[in-house]
Amino acid sequence: MSNQYVIVPQNYRSDSMVSISPADKRYFEQAQAKQKSPPQQMMFGGYSPSPSLQKSLSTQLSEQNIDDFSRMQKDSDTELVVQYILQLRDADKREQALSELSKKRESFPHLAPLLWHSVGTIAIFLQEIAVVYQHLQPAQLTPAQSSRICSVLGLLQCLALHVQTRSCFLRAHIPLFLYPFLNTSNKSKAFENLRVTSLGVIGALVKGDDPEAINFLMQTEIIPLCLRIMKKGQELSRTVATFIVQKILLDDNGLNYICQTPERFFAVSQVLQTMIDDLHQSQKDDQRLLRHIIRCYLRLSENQKAGEVLKKYLPQVLKDPTQSFIKDEVVKKWHNNLLQNLSIK
Ligand code: TRP
Repeated sequence: MSNQYVIVPQNYRSDSMVSISPADKRYFEQAQAKQKSPPQQMMFGGYSPSPSLQKSLSTQLSEQNIDDFSRMQKDSDTELVVQYILQLRDADKREQALSELSKKRESFPHLAPLLWHSVGTIAIFLQEIAVVYQHLQPAQLTPAQSSRICSVLGLLQCLALHVQTRSCFLRAHIPLFLYPFLNTSNKSKAFENLRVTSLGVIGALVKGDDPEAINFLMQTEIIPLCLRIMKKGQELSRTVATFIVQKILLDDNGLNYICQTPERFFAVSQVLQTMIDDLHQSQKDDQRLLRHIIRCYLRLSENQKAGEVLKKYLPQVLKDPTQSFIKDEVVKKWHNNLLQNLSIK
């Protein structure tokens, strides 16, 4: 592999270096073929906007050149994204660039590798995060600061989701930088948004059922952090935190890990019980949260030791096989399976 395809920030640990996939390599090579002035463009894997691109953008669209047009549009999108990434280095333009880049998350599939492999970008994200720590305790986060950091978190989410960057993201231990945000309890919107968006990054990591992500998280304190949010958090953060615990449980190592000691098992089952009691007593119709809770119980019941204990500790309302507050058919089935596993019905 030629060196020019490895674009790594100078000060990064060598084990977070990655080789670029053949598809990306091709993409960079094509871009490089168009390149006129190599030195200043090396930062982006040799991508350089071709002068003809500017000209052709102004030509009229006809049915025959519709393919050309979509290719051109892709190129002009890349140019725009590259420009925003460069603007991150300018303190005056950074806030705007963060916001624009985070809007491009879904429409621009190459965003994650570009962010990861461009020099200094990740360091800028970490710096943005570190600046916010001082406003957590005492709680002084303004809505503007919260929204700026949420743009950064949105971009981290994109790195967590992308198959080509997820592993680097984990090996660089980036999730740990978000834990101070999860450890807050201030009820204001600025803080709740910060927690929900940080959970969103962890949610993106576990969404792909990637054992590497689960194994990483298990070695950290993410479960107690999630449990605290499940117990005391607001609706949305509660739901995402429960989803994360569910995903960890669905992994075989994750299930064994949680059922390994009585302390861990009871910490989880007590919080699930609190949430069920809360939903039942308040008559809140939160089917999404209920779905995650029942899935967690079902999974716990698949572990022999946990199943035996759960038989005793399952919340009373869930022992009723005709439980009417479960509306979703799939969830009703899970509930049935749960009762069967525990030989309650
Ligand atoms: N370090 C703690 C442990 O290994 C993490 C932890 C706390 C935990 N509470 C938990 C893990 C509940 C799983 C479930 O026990």
